[in-house]
Amino acid sequence: MIAIKNERELEAMRQACKITAAARALAGDMVRPGVTTKQIDKAVHDFIVKQGAKPSFLHYGGYPASACISVNNVVIHGIPDGRVLQEGDIVSVDVGAYFRGFHGDCAATYPCGKISPEAQRLIDVTRESFFQGLKQAKQGNRVSDISHAIQTYVESNGYSVVRDFVGHGVGAQLHEEPEVRNFGAPGHGPRLLRGMTLAIEPMVNEGNYPVVVLKDKWTTVTADGKLSAHYENTVLITDGEPEILTVTEGL
Ligand code: MF3
Ligand code: CO
Repeated sequence: MIAIKNERELEAMRQACKITAAARALAGDMVRPGVTTKQIDKAVHDFIVKQGAKPSFLHYGGYPASACISVNNVVIHGIPDGRVLQEGDIVSVDVGAYFRGFHGDCAATYPCGKISPEAQRLIDVTRESFFQGLKQAKQGNRVSDISHAIQTYVESNGYSVVRDFVGHGVGAQLHEEPEVRNFGAPGHGPRLLRGMTLAIEPMVNEGNYPVVVLKDKWTTVTADGKLSAHYENTVLITDGEPEILTVTEGL
């Protein structure tokens, strides 16, 4: 069963998502050479708590931090630690906040200082693939119409989409139905209805799509060691244009 949120629930959800988006922005502003991923995680944690919210990821399935910070070949679920960011790194920051009964979830990849044109293109294509998927996120379409649009755009730019991890419904739980893949044929999966809230989150590899989860059970890296980028927003399906909920305006 895919949850349909009513107006009251959506109001809480909008607030949770604004806090989440502001935490992402604050983390992105901290990305520069010399900063550790743990320093960014602490700032994210303290900001979310100061807003009266809870970091959604902290202790989720045993996850030990508030943000996932995934550098270069790390695809997702990088655990913040003493790693010092270097000029030229690309840094994916994924955050979630729980407020008044609802979660927001969003991510983006940021350049650390001056990065190569190739790395910047990967970031740009990943972000744009989200917006290509978003165009299909409307009432009456099926979930895999989003998936197909993302895959088509990514592959036409010479990159690959990760298969082993997917987007998802988000709301009272961080992960709800439906699964939102970033690949596949159009016209499959549940029909989209107004009031559904989805985390659409393409994970895009510079090389091939296989990934490996390290011994810590979280850190997920590209199998070929090449770069990976991530972009995610929490989105509301309406009877018109979709609404991106993870925006900072109005916090
Ligand atoms: N935002 C990610 C997701 O959508 C990461 C959550 S995993 C966690 O699944 F364990 F860190 F919470
Ligand atoms: Co997510």
